[in-house]
Formats: sequence, C-alpha cells, structure tokens
Amino acid sequence: MMSNKLLSALFAAGFAVMMSSASFAADENLADFHVEMGGCESCHADGEPSADGEFEFEQCQSCHGSLEEMDATHQAHDGMLMCADCHAPHDAVVGEKPTCDTCHDDGRTAE
Ligand code: HEC
Ligand code: HEC
Ligand code: HEC
Ligand code: HEC
Repeated sequence: MMSNKLLSALFAAGFAVMMSSASFAADENLADFHVEMGGCESCHADGEPSADGEFEFEQCQSCHGSLEEMDATHQAHDGMLMCADCHAPHDAVVGEKPTCDTCHDDGRTAE
C-alpha cells in the first residue's frame, strides 16, 4: 500500500503526465529523477549527504515503506542492507533492476 508521503510526491510530480509521456530522459539517474519531485532535500538533510547513510535510508522508507513491507527479494535483506546498497541513487539509471552478483556468487537472480 502506498504511504501518504508517496502519494503526495506523486501528485507533486504530476504523475499522470509522467507515466503517459515519459517526461524523464531514458538515461536519467535515480537521484535526478527524485530531485524533480522534491529536490535534494527529499533524501538529504539540508541537501548534504550524511556520513553513514542512515538519514537517506529513513527518507526512502518514509515514501516507499520498509524492506519488510516489500516483495521477497527485499524482505530477504531486511535488517541487512540499506536501499542504496542496491539502488545507488547517483549511479543507477531509472528502470534499472539491481543484480545479485555484486554480493552473491552463486548465480542467483531476483524472482
Ligand atoms: C533518491 C535520494 C537522493 C536524492 C534525491 C539525492 N541524493 Fe545524493 N545521495 C543519496 C544517497 C543514498 C547517497 C549515498 C551514496 C550512494 O549510495 O550513492 C548520496 C550521496 C551523495 C553525495 C556523496 C558523493 C556520492 O556521490 O556518493 C553527494 C555530494 C550528494 N549525494 C549530493 C546530492 C545533491 C546535491 C542532490 C540534489 C541535486 C542529491 N544528492 C540528491 C541519495 C540521494
Ligand atoms: C538486495 C538488493 C536490494 C535492496 C537492498 C533494495 N532493493 Fe529495491 N529492488 C531490487 C531488485 C532486484 C528490484 C527489481 C525486482 C523486484 O522488484 O524485486 C527492485 C525493485 C525496486 C523498485 C521498483 C519496483 C517496481 O515496480 O519495479 C523500487 C521502488 C524499489 N526496489 C525500492 C527499494 C527501496 C525503497 C529499498 C529500501 C527500503 C530497496 N528497494 C532496497 C533490489 C533491492
Ligand atoms: C519523497 C518521496 C520519496 C523518497 C524520499 C524516495 N522516493 Fe523513490 N520514488 C518516489 C516516487 C513517487 C517514485 C515514482 C513511483 C514509483 O516508482 O514508486 C519513486 C521511484 C523509485 C524507484 C523506481 C524507479 C524506476 O526505476 O522506475 C526506485 C528504485 C526508488 N524510488 C528508490 C528510492 C530510494 C533508494 C530512495 C532513498 C535513497 C528513495 N527512492 C526515496 C518517491 C520517493
Ligand atoms: C549489496 C549486497 C547484496 C546484493 C546486491 C544482494 N544481496 Fe542478498 N544478501 C546480502 C547479504 C549481506 C545477506 C545476508 C547474509 C547472507 O545470508 O549471505 C543477503 C541475504 C540474501 C538472502 C537470504 C539468505 C540466503 O542466502 O538465502 C537471499 C534469499 C538473498 N540475499 C537474495 C538476493 C537476490 C535474489 C539478490 C539480487 C536481486 C541479492 N540477494 C542481492 C547482500 C546482497
């Protein structure tokens, strides 16, 4: 279920327009995609990254929910990882599915 914060971010972004006309560039990274909705402050306190990433992790969860509330791939990492360990916002491109082989060497993939 979507949080109220996620819903208001969707409205702020004009989500209907975004979904129907692909208003983001094909190679836009996750950070820039979110900046269009709420600026750097949607993830960083005062626009500055924290030293340990905890503040940013809290921000992700306040909109998207916790790992425990997501699908099996996410649940398997509850208490183990932060979102940015797999979705590095300044490196990952919108639509990119994180792979497993950076951390697991047994050939597993997302279900
Ligand atoms: C979707 C959330 C998100 C948004 C929006 C975002 N950042 Fe970040 N940023 C992160 C996370 C998480 C990190 C920690 C490093 C990582 O995993 O990429 C980070 C790292 C950084 C760093 C440390 C250097 C680096 O690249 O690792 C800087 C500087 C930074 N962000 C600046 C900004 C600025 C300036 C903006 C606005 C233009 C911005 N960020 C928008 C999530 C975000
Ligand atoms: C272990 C790596 C991993 C971590 C940690 C992780 N994700 Fe993901 N995420 C994935 C993979 C793989 C997919 C694509 C397959 C799937 O949806 O399970 C995905 C998909 C998504 C999607 C897109 C779903 C869709 O509709 O396609 C969102 C949004 C997302 N993750 C948010 C998050 C947030 C927020 C966190 C932290 C609370 C997080 N992820 C942590 C690996 C990860
Ligand atoms: C202010 C609310 C907000 C915050 C904070 C936020 N997101 Fe999002 N995010 C959204 C919205 C809205 C979308 C677009 C709808 C969707 O895909 O759920 C989105 C989309 C995504 C997607 C899917 C993009 C795609 O490929 O289609 C991922 C992955 C994601 N966010 C990860 C993160 C991570 C990681 C963080 C924290 C570093 C974060 N988000 C912080 C609101 C937020
Ligand atoms: C950033 C590193 C990282 C990435 C990427 C990653 N994992 Fe994990 N994963 C871990 C860690 C750390 C644990 C907990 C320690 C362990 O059990 O190996 C874990 C545990 C798991 C577990 C539960 C224990 C086990 O080994 O069965 C599953 C299932 C899992 N990961 C699946 C995946 C899948 C599927 C992907 C790709 C979508 C993935 N992981 C990507 C780091 C990662």
